[in-house]
Amino acid sequence: MAKSSQATWGGRFGAGPAELMLRFSESVSLDRRLAPFDIAGSKAHAAMLAHVGLITKGEGRAIQRGLDAILREIVAGKFRWDIRLEDVHMNIEQALTKRVPAAAKLQTARSRNDQVATDLRLFLKEACAVLRAKLAAAQRAILVCAEANRAILIPGYTHLQRAQPVFLAHHLLAWLEMLERDRTRLADVAAHANWCPLGAGALAGTTLPIDREFTARALGFVDARGRPQLTQNSMDAVADRDAAVEFAAACALAGVHFSRLAEDLILWTSAEFKFAELPEAFCTGSSLMPQKKNSDACELLRGKSGRLQGNLQALLTLTKGLPLTYNRDLQEDKAPIFDSFDQTAICAEVLAGVVGGLRVNPLRCALAASDPALLATDLAEYLVRRGVPFREAHHAVGRVVALAEARDLPLPSLPTAEIRKIHPGFGSDWAAAFDLKRALQKRRGTGMPGPAQIAGQFARWNKLLLG
Ligand code: ARG
Repeated sequence: MAKSSQATWGGRFGAGPAELMLRFSESVSLDRRLAPFDIAGSKAHAAMLAHVGLITKGEGRAIQRGLDAILREIVAGKFRWDIRLEDVHMNIEQALTKRVPAAAKLQTARSRNDQVATDLRLFLKEACAVLRAKLAAAQRAILVCAEANRAILIPGYTHLQRAQPVFLAHHLLAWLEMLERDRTRLADVAAHANWCPLGAGALAGTTLPIDREFTARALGFVDARGRPQLTQNSMDAVADRDAAVEFAAACALAGVHFSRLAEDLILWTSAEFKFAELPEAFCTGSSLMPQKKNSDACELLRGKSGRLQGNLQALLTLTKGLPLTYNRDLQEDKAPIFDSFDQTAICAEVLAGVVGGLRVNPLRCALAASDPALLATDLAEYLVRRGVPFREAHHAVGRVVALAEARDLPLPSLPTAEIRKIHPGFGSDWAAAFDLKRALQKRRGTGMPGPAQIAGQFARWNKLLLG
């Protein structure tokens, strides 16, 4: 390859890189999606250079116009990306140089090291905002489903064994809590990314009189009061990828949540549970078994979580052995970061679609929730209210359950005389503990599944997600 095509760093080289090296080392096929951020960064940097007099106002304006034109071409799909120019930064710089002579001054007091660190932070801030919105949309779909089925009871499970009755809405609102924590985490990641590295240069800043506050402000690296936020150590600024790791971690954990919700849905929509039916639009059939309706969307939500965890692991491994400061290894951060963003985004959308089309089966839910054994704990609490220590009550109810099993009778149908033989604390009203409606009404404390609590939670979520 001709030496001239590496105008950005070719000065000390006698020949260009091998064709194989070009293919091996290029990142433009991936990092071109950073172009809008790269151009924003360059525009801010050029404005700062003009502001401090390192370039003339006229040169500054010419650079701004040139960058705007390049962005328009990129957006229109007309820009010619060239892998011989390695990455998004050099592609744009070269294109600008061809149109605007002053572009030769754009890299004054800037290196690709602080440039790519800036691009990434801008990307992460936007990615967090996009994912937060998509997660909120999924939450709204869940909230709508919960409200549409608010009277429905199901068994709650521990160890995947029927445990205690809950409103289906309570279970769905648990999902909202999980996704809300993901949204908070993403807001934290965006805040951590919100420090401007520009001015760090390659690693040791510059001897030129730049204005870092100006650039930071122009790019929106500001606190809540509009004060610029600058990275405080130039070496850390170009070596640090913590925000990327945290972003991948937030996505991986969101992925774990998607996976757990998907698993609930897969169980609920199996013939064994039949609590609900999945929308056909998010299922597939079998090429062999004509009757099959498979929950592929949910299975993929579950499966993608492995991939999201892999991306986090890739970033941790990528950075762990690197000496300060920038090393080319860091270029490998793009694939996992972009993939975590894309997959988390589409997972959130699919989850919204699946839940949005979920059809609950009230009869099957009622049947499962009417299992009196679900209220065995309430019966023990009945004894507690009559002064029996809980451990003793627990044991007594255990014997009642064993008796019901031995007699093959539902718990409330056991004769009171026999119950009283097990423990004298049982009164004639002992079977009232099995009144499902009353049992739920008694669960009044914060976070409990009683109807009054759930009404309060609905109000809270409506305000949070729709207000
Ligand atoms: N494409 C590079 C990356 O993504 C940009 C920074 C290159 N810096 C350098 N010193 N080679 O990391």
